Amino acid sequence: MTLDVERILAQQSSGLPRYTSYPPANHFVPGGGAALTDALAQAAREADAVSLYIHIPFCDRMCWFCGCHTKQVQRHDPVVTYIGDLVEEIALWGRKLGQRPKVSKLHLGGGSPSLLQAQDLAAIRQALHAAFDFSSEPEVSIEIDPSDVKSASIDNLMAVGMTRASIGVQDFDPVVQAAINRPQSFELTRDIVEALRAAGIGSINIDALYGLPLQTQDRFVRTVEQVIALQPDRIALFGYAHVPWMKTHQRMIKDEDLPNGLQRFHDAEVGSAMIARAGYQVIGIDHFAKPDDSLAIAARNGKLHRNFQGYTDDDAAVRLGFGASAIGCFDGGFVQNEVATGRYQDMVRKGSIPLARGLALNEEDRLYGRVIELLMCDFGFAYGQLEREFGPAVAAPAISLARKVAALDKDGLCRSSTTGFEMTPDARPFVRIVAARFDQWLQRTEGKYSKVV
Ligand SMILES: C[S@@+](CC[C@H](N)C(=O)[O-])C[C@H]1O[C@@H](n2cnc3c(N)ncnc32)[C@H](O)[C@@H]1O
Ligand code: SF4
Repeated sequence: MTLDVERILAQQSSGLPRYTSYPPANHFVPGGGAALTDALAQAAREADAVSLYIHIPFCDRMCWFCGCHTKQVQRHDPVVTYIGDLVEEIALWGRKLGQRPKVSKLHLGGGSPSLLQAQDLAAIRQALHAAFDFSSEPEVSIEIDPSDVKSASIDNLMAVGMTRASIGVQDFDPVVQAAINRPQSFELTRDIVEALRAAGIGSINIDALYGLPLQTQDRFVRTVEQVIALQPDRIALFGYAHVPWMKTHQRMIKDEDLPNGLQRFHDAEVGSAMIARAGYQVIGIDHFAKPDDSLAIAARNGKLHRNFQGYTDDDAAVRLGFGASAIGCFDGGFVQNEVATGRYQDMVRKGSIPLARGLALNEEDRLYGRVIELLMCDFGFAYGQLEREFGPAVAAPAISLARKVAALDKDGLCRSSTTGFEMTPDARPFVRIVAARFDQWLQRTEGKYSKVV
């Protein structure tokens, strides 16, 4: 069956979650995090290793497309003050844990962790090493805005053990860059990539976006060519999420400058095909990796996961998040810190772990969370796998829902066999539409989300 892309896009006018968690973070409830602290700490003590996330909610520029939890700072003092509170939060957790769990992965995200200075990074490192065991030399990935990088920056980032770097590009075209307030030359970006390689960074990711204002297909194709020319190990090609009701600076982007749904769909397809032709393995809906990269290997082995950073090979059962808005998770649920930096800092200064919201998961959440993760990562799932992971009785409602979803599908998006459920190959870009049919929370509540492609 040939897909009627226009019809499918037209039916889906309201947008859908990106499914970087299930349920999506808008379902977390006030107080729900604090109630889970003891159980999360216990899970961290019992885990073979934990994964850590640190959020730096500052940038020295404000890109108008930005959907991240961040704000622009002109001076460094607020950053230094924040780092003091972050260090205290890590110490609070260290005391709560009462032992130093082994760390498998550490990710510094933001905002722009690349604006941190040597003393900030040293303070974070010291706090982390006091509370956690880094003896297994974990993978340390750091998000970098190339325009932040000064001559000493890379050495400073190497001093916290950086092994992977993720660089924001978005688009190289000057007209698009002006429309999103993000000037960044190809030459600067290339110099940073080369400097990171020279420093010994073996894995570099580049983020690019489709769906940006004034981004014609020619401009977009040229950007993709330039990104490929830099030969990163991974590429993330995200669809721009325009959510001006949540991120008011996005109002600087004129609606009439945005490509329509059909152009977004075509750009995503064209970009994806170009990157695949250049030798990258396609991972999920928006990631690409060289075949020998650990993300590509995980995808081939059915070990891909999805978390708030997107696709990952991080298989830690427990994740702790530090800093404003950071999210932690374990089998029992999700916890999220205060999003507003000021409130986050007040709580830490009062000696409280600064959790604002969270959600305890029940068995149904875990089941449909896994179904949606498998759909987002592998575009399908075997019924036997669900039965093995959850037991036949618990898995049964998801299997019968899968059969129903396939039977009711009039668009050729998915199919069910006796052994499993899968997206049809051409319909993979629409996986969020099918994932939403398994989303029990979406059926119960209203939410405003970004476009499906
Ligand atoms: C924290 S930033 C990356 C590091 C650094 N701050 C930078 O911009 O270079 C994370 C990434 O999220 C993506 N992003 C930000 N806002 C977005 C939006 N509204 N829609 C889709 N992706 C977005 C961008 O590709 C960006 O590189
Ligand atoms: S895209 Fe990156 S640099 Fe730009 S405002 Fe967002 S976090 Fe900051």
